Amino acid sequence: MESELTRSPAWHALSQHFQEMKSVHMRELFDADTERFKYYSIELNDLLYDYSKNIVTDKTVELLLQLAREADLPRWIERMFAGEPINHTENRAVLHAALRDRSAKPVYVDGVDVMPEIQQELERVKHLAEMIRSRKWRGVSNQAITDVVNIGIGGSHLGPLMVNEALRPHALHDLNVHFVSNIDENHINDTLQYLNPETTFFIISSKSFTTQDTMVNAETARQWFVESQHDDDSDLHRHFAAVTSNVEQARAFGIAKDNIFKMWDWVGGRYSLWSAIGLSIVVAIGSEHFDELLEGAYEVDQHFKQAPLEKNIPVLMGLLGIWYNNFFDAQTMAVLPYDQHLHRFPAYLQQADMESNGKYIDRNGEEVDYTTGPVIFGEIGIAAQHAFFQLLHQGTKLVPADILAPVYSFQCIARHHRALMSNVFAQTEALMRGKSREEALEELRAQGLSEEQIEALLPYKVFPGNRPTSTLMFDTLDPKTLGSIIALYEHKIFVQGVIWNINSFDQWGVELGKQLATDILHELDDATAVNSHDSSTNGLINHYKRRRPNRSGG
Ligand code: F6P
Repeated sequence: MESELTRSPAWHALSQHFQEMKSVHMRELFDADTERFKYYSIELNDLLYDYSKNIVTDKTVELLLQLAREADLPRWIERMFAGEPINHTENRAVLHAALRDRSAKPVYVDGVDVMPEIQQELERVKHLAEMIRSRKWRGVSNQAITDVVNIGIGGSHLGPLMVNEALRPHALHDLNVHFVSNIDENHINDTLQYLNPETTFFIISSKSFTTQDTMVNAETARQWFVESQHDDDSDLHRHFAAVTSNVEQARAFGIAKDNIFKMWDWVGGRYSLWSAIGLSIVVAIGSEHFDELLEGAYEVDQHFKQAPLEKNIPVLMGLLGIWYNNFFDAQTMAVLPYDQHLHRFPAYLQQADMESNGKYIDRNGEEVDYTTGPVIFGEIGIAAQHAFFQLLHQGTKLVPADILAPVYSFQCIARHHRALMSNVFAQTEALMRGKSREEALEELRAQGLSEEQIEALLPYKVFPGNRPTSTLMFDTLDPKTLGSIIALYEHKIFVQGVIWNINSFDQWGVELGKQLATDILHELDDATAVNSHDSSTNGLINHYKRRRPNRSGG
């Protein structure tokens, strides 16, 4: 049965329109309209979103907007901000935006205004962070804290890590913030080997407080600390805090009541960096900068709520993604920051986007008959140029890309920054224009090659172009701007989820592997061969057991 989406008038119109557009080259669009940039770019505070280098015309944009209207997007936006339980499979509201709400208006969940509690928790987070930053918080031997280790994974790790890397220039220099996520012992061992238990503070970040990776690492951290105290755990409260919605488990682990910071079930893990999960961020950059981060996100929230759809950056970002994903059949999307401090942004966005929109069942419980979330990948733009841009320019796949670039970098050494930005401009132009056969020919002739040499080389020197990029330029990567950038992507993901009629806020797809790992864990307790799985899984487990005959269970 055809879904509501693929039956909708806008979808049909877009399918027909695609037939006209699939052979259009962006060069033609730019040649036909010298003002294209002006009409296909939007400024919001210090952000400039240029989407003119996309294979779209006014008609495309109008039809995509019609698709959004037919999906009732404005109403969905209202519903999210109003705290309705739009995460229907978990019967939860989706209120990460409330965490940065500066309006002083109430936000209700089940008839209760959640704003006072949000404020209270934020103040507690800031208080602890400032105590540590100001060296007033003392460890067991009355020394100040020198190292803070966030133990968490997924949303309890990637957001804070990405932000801390992005805002590194704003962080205190004599306080180190570390992140441990991998259950592989190398991660925690590598981190702890140079640290002093008496000056180290751990934040156990886990909404559920049951995630295996985090719990195993937390146990190791506690053991490391307690052993350093001759097996005395009475000073744990000076060295451990937790951020969780599972207070009981955190207490059972040994975290002091005053050191437990609350998370709410209406904040999804991958949207949680604005909550107490951001404690490690506040420790690093301080309360004022954290407020600026929230402020930047709040401004985008206002824009998302109030701007007309055709001038709404997250809406356009989302719709362009739909255009390529569902009509051009693009399977991927590249995110390419040209700012070294955004080097963890692609990893962060992979979780934010793919865990949200990697779904094949729609809101009615039916299998979709269209493709949903793309594979997100990316790398620092300059590094990517020397790694996978070959495929972007001359490969056989269409890879729409987002480019993020700063007008100023933190120190802005002109020699570096101008060269950096020349690459940004050159790459988006090259991807759009490509190099025609005639241009390539002229170039080879100018190099003085023989006709024979030219003939042999010419096909390789042609660039088809017509590779879409959208550029998000910002003045400089300060906390406020970063907050805005993150919120843009959060809302873009939501827009796409609404169009695809999927719930972007659950993540059932991560459960199966977790369940099986729990079962298999018991099977690793001894050296007995297993035969309860398929032959590959049995074979792998039994090989593992054979190769470490005396070490199983260890
Ligand atoms: O396994 C996926 C996931 O559930 C993510 O959604 C989440 O961000 C991560 O694990 C960590 O979960 P928690 O904060 O409960 O430890």
